[in-house]
Formats: sequence, structure tokens, C-alpha cells
Amino acid sequence: MPPLILPLACAFVATLAAPLTGENSYGPIPGQTPLYNDYRGISAPFPAGKVTGPTLPTASGPPGPEDYLWQNLVAAEWTILAFYQHAVELFNISSFTSLGLPITTYGRIVEIRDNEAGHLNIFYREISNTSTKPGPCEYDFGFEHPLDPEFFLGEQVFIELSSISFLSGLVNQAVSPTSRSALVVVGSVETRHNAWALTNSWGIDPFDGPADAAYPWPEQILGLTTRFIKNGSCPVANPAYPYPNQEKPAMSFITTVSSGHPGEAIQFTFPGHEPKWKHGKEYYAVFVHAINNITVPFDPKTGMSTVPAEFDSNRGLIYALIVDQPGAPCLESMLAGPLTLLQQPAALTTVIGGI
Ligand SMILES: *[C@@H]1O[C@H](CO)[C@@H](O)[C@H](O)[C@H]1NC(C)=O
Ligand SMILES: *[C@@H]1O[C@H](CO)[C@@H](O)[C@H](O)[C@H]1NC(C)=O
Ligand SMILES: *[C@@H]1O[C@H](CO)[C@@H](O)[C@H](O)[C@H]1NC(C)=O
Ligand SMILES: *[C@@H]1O[C@H](CO)[C@@H](O)[C@H](O)[C@H]1NC(C)=O
Repeated sequence: MPPLILPLACAFVATLAAPLTGENSYGPIPGQTPLYNDYRGISAPFPAGKVTGPTLPTASGPPGPEDYLWQNLVAAEWTILAFYQHAVELFNISSFTSLGLPITTYGRIVEIRDNEAGHLNIFYREISNTSTKPGPCEYDFGFEHPLDPEFFLGEQVFIELSSISFLSGLVNQAVSPTSRSALVVVGSVETRHNAWALTNSWGIDPFDGPADAAYPWPEQILGLTTRFIKNGSCPVANPAYPYPNQEKPAMSFITTVSSGHPGEAIQFTFPGHEPKWKHGKEYYAVFVHAINNITVPFDPKTGMSTVPAEFDSNRGLIYALIVDQPGAPCLESMLAGPLTLLQQPAALTTVIGGI
């Protein structure tokens, strides 16, 4: 039998660091309180009035090497928590039972809200005291009527799948192994939320294929969540979000031409600002799905391209971008996007996919 090889020498630790238990200075510790699991109150268990704006640095010195990563995540998580919080306040049990959904639906949404409050606490205390901790902005999620929760249920799938893409992408930017693991274990919870949504709310297969979409520029996926932030509503002391800003012209697609599924023609539009096309130059559309991408021709005159037929149908999502080099090997090769083509549930592609 080969000898056991221990991966790391472990020095004897004479004095244990004070363990974190119960409460930290920002609130209850995730994993050590039922509050982030099954608390059913209307107001969120965190920040629960303890944090209402940005927290300015309380120590001087250089920022921690991962501060910008956690600042990005705190800003994203304020948005996601606000999304669920708005649903908890607007809806009740009968909002969902009147759609024929299980009586447990509202309670599960409250639980997911609790998990997201726990994520906010986790990300918040990772930011070192030499950096600003972002505060919340004001948000508009586009659902306001208490008897009309379908739009919320569609956006939920978009938000959970986007979270998985940016958390997995940010793993590459984390410096410490502990942080990388933290991003993965939080991402796996978002996966569970989505699996629940797919079976419970949409009545479909909970599994979205062997791999979610791995996207190389997580800041761009974070950027997709800024559509929910009301213009000019963020505290002036908040750090820029997302940082760095890698925003490219936004894309949409014409839903009367096709519904954005594999094998279909697709006509892209550039609602804000159309890239400047050079005469005679080749352009391509890159479609990212699971851990691969496929490049196909794109005609800038008509906006036409084709969603690759090679992709499996009705699984997760596909990101589309317009590039001037096959495969989008670097950020400079990218001219527009990404556009989220939500595939599962298939009916949502044209509802949420066009945003
Ligand atoms: C749920 O909300 C609807 C719409 O606001 C309201 O009519 C209904 O009474 C509420 N039901 C319960 C059980 O609170
Ligand atoms: C950062 O600030 C918090 C709140 O004031 C404090 O509890 C914590 O000990 C500080 N962390 C460090 C490493 O100084
Ligand atoms: C917010 O600002 C953007 C960019 O300046 C603009 O395109 C958009 O119409 C504004 N939205 C609202 C609701 O004012
Ligand atoms: C596409 O795949 C190539 C080859 O694996 C990779 O280098 C590139 O970064 C990928 N592009 C995107 C946008 O995922």
C-alpha cells in the first residue's frame, strides 16, 4: 500500500482564533442561524435595518486583493435580495395558488429570500475594512400587480441562471482557495433555487443539462443585472458597479422572426447603439452554451445569423455575442452583447430572452 501523502504540513496552533459564532458585527452568521433558512417574516433577516447605506472604510490602508470582487457581488446581491423581497411583500399564498401552483410556493420564495439575505451577509463581511461596502439602490423589476406573478417567475429563472454564470466566472478572479470554494458553494445554492423553480412553477424537468453556461467575462453578466437598478438611485459613495465596466452595445432579437432556439434563424437588433461595421470585414456571432462556444456567420446588413443546431434543446441558456474574430478569444474581439437566450422553459425565450 502506498504511503499516505498529506497535502500540507500543519503547524501546531497554540491559541485558537476566536471562533465566529452567533452574530458577527453585521448580523447573524450564515450556517449558524435558522434565519437564513426558514424565517417567514415579511422583512428580510439581513440587513434587518442594520445596513441602510454604504459602509465607508473604518480602517486605513490598501484595499484587500479581492475587495473589488466582493464589492461586485454585494452590489449584485442587493439587487437579487431586493427582487425576492419585493415578491415577498407584493405576493401572498393565494397569488400562486390562483395560478394552480402548489400551496408551498409562496413559502419557498420566502425561503429563497432568506438564502439570498445570507449570501449578502457572506459577501458583505468579505470586504475588508479598508474598502467601502456598497449600499442598496432602488430597483424596478417590472412586476407590480399582486395578482400577476408570472413575470416574476420568469425573471427568477433569468436571475438564478445569471448568478450561476457570474459566480462561476468570478472563481477565476478569486485569490484565495477559500474564496474560490465559497463562490462555488454559493453558486450551487442558486442552482437549487432554479431547479425548484423549473419543477414547481413551470412543471418541467428540473435539470438543465450536464453543465451551466460558463462565460469568460463575469462583469458583463453582472452588467445584465443593472437593468433592474433605477437610474441615478445608487448612493454616491458606492463603488462603481460592475467594476471593471466591460459594457458593450446591448443586443436583442426580433421575436416574430424566430424564438431563439437551436437550429433557428435569428435576427439581432442593437437597441441602444449599433456597432460601427467596416465595409468588407467579416463578422460572426458566437453562441456560448455549457462549456463550449460555436461561431457562425453574422450579416451586419440584415442582423441575421443562426442559433447553432448542435446545441441540446430546451436546456439552461445560450449567450449570444457579436465578434470580429471566431471564438471571441479576447475582449477586444467582442463588439456587442451578451444577449441571454433563455432556453428552459422554452416559452420564456421570447419573453425574457429579448431583454
Ligand atoms: C392576497 O393578496 C390579494 C391581493 O392583494 C388579496 O386580495 C388577498 O386577500 C390576499 N390573501 C391573503 C390570504 O392575504
Ligand atoms: C472590521 O470592522 C468590523 C466592524 O467594525 C469589526 O468587527 C472587525 O473586527 C473589523 N475587522 C478587522 C479585520 O479589523
Ligand atoms: C436610464 O438611463 C439610460 C442610459 O442613460 C437610458 O437609456 C434609460 O432610458 C434610462 N431609463 C430610465 C427609466 O430613465
Ligand atoms: C470560445 O472557446 C474558445 C476555445 O475553447 C475559448 O478560447 C474562448 O475563450 C471561448 N469564448 C467564449 C466567449 O466563451
